[in-house]
Amino acid sequence: MTPETWTAVDDYLTRLLIPADAALDEAQRAAAEAALPPISVSPQQGKFLHLLARIGGARRILEIGTLAGYSTIWLARALPPGGTLVSLEFDAKHAAVARANLARAGFADVVDIRVGRAIDALPALQREDPFDFVFIDADKPSTPDYFDWALKLTRKGGVIVVDNVVRAGALIDSSGKDADVEGMRRFLARLARETGASGSVLQTVGSKGYDGLAVVVVQGAS
Ligand code: SAH
Ligand code: DHB
Ligand code: MG
Repeated sequence: MTPETWTAVDDYLTRLLIPADAALDEAQRAAAEAALPPISVSPQQGKFLHLLARIGGARRILEIGTLAGYSTIWLARALPPGGTLVSLEFDAKHAAVARANLARAGFADVVDIRVGRAIDALPALQREDPFDFVFIDADKPSTPDYFDWALKLTRKGGVIVVDNVVRAGALIDSSGKDADVEGMRRFLARLARETGASGSVLQTVGSKGYDGLAVVVVQGAS
């Protein structure tokens, strides 16, 4: 079993379960044309996020790390009429590509992309309605801080998902001092001692290589 097999199986599954999709295809084409890094979630991962948000009945979603809005489109499609999605993005160029992609997908009035460092935008969200679903996928060393904010901003019963937790197994390579991986270890240590949340990490293989996704439910102090 090789990365080539994972990708071939991913392609097979995507041909079956996610047939041609103009808005998503166009979003990835525009991202490539603008030379954005090819680091969005895969089609299967995007649909999985969408399904999690739908299963949870999410009406208000927060995303940290927009890039070209690929995961954002998947998440916005989970919302019922009147639902809202706030997505935080540091890079103004990424945000501009994402806004065009979201407009083409029909979500110009549903998604609110806020440009700037996420850590600066998060405190103001305390004064808005709580979120039902949070997707954390930005600068990895800040993941523990984003998780702390997500706990504050998510309603009881809400869900927090964190991308890129396993990084081809680097997670448990104790010789590694990679700041991204350190961020994930600190996030997991925080999750482990958090009595107000319960989580699991699913390892994944596919077109994005070998990685993993944390899924956390917020349950209030217990
Ligand atoms: N969620 C996207 C991929 C996000 S890639 C998808 O799956 O389609 C990570 C994004 O986080 C990049 O666009 C990067 O510019 C952004 N980012 C990096 N540091 C950030 C910060 N401090 N605050 C907000 N966004 C940041
Ligand atoms: C990479 C992948 C991601 O999903 C991400 O959010 C950031 C970086 C990467 O492969 O480098
Ligand atoms: Mg990611």
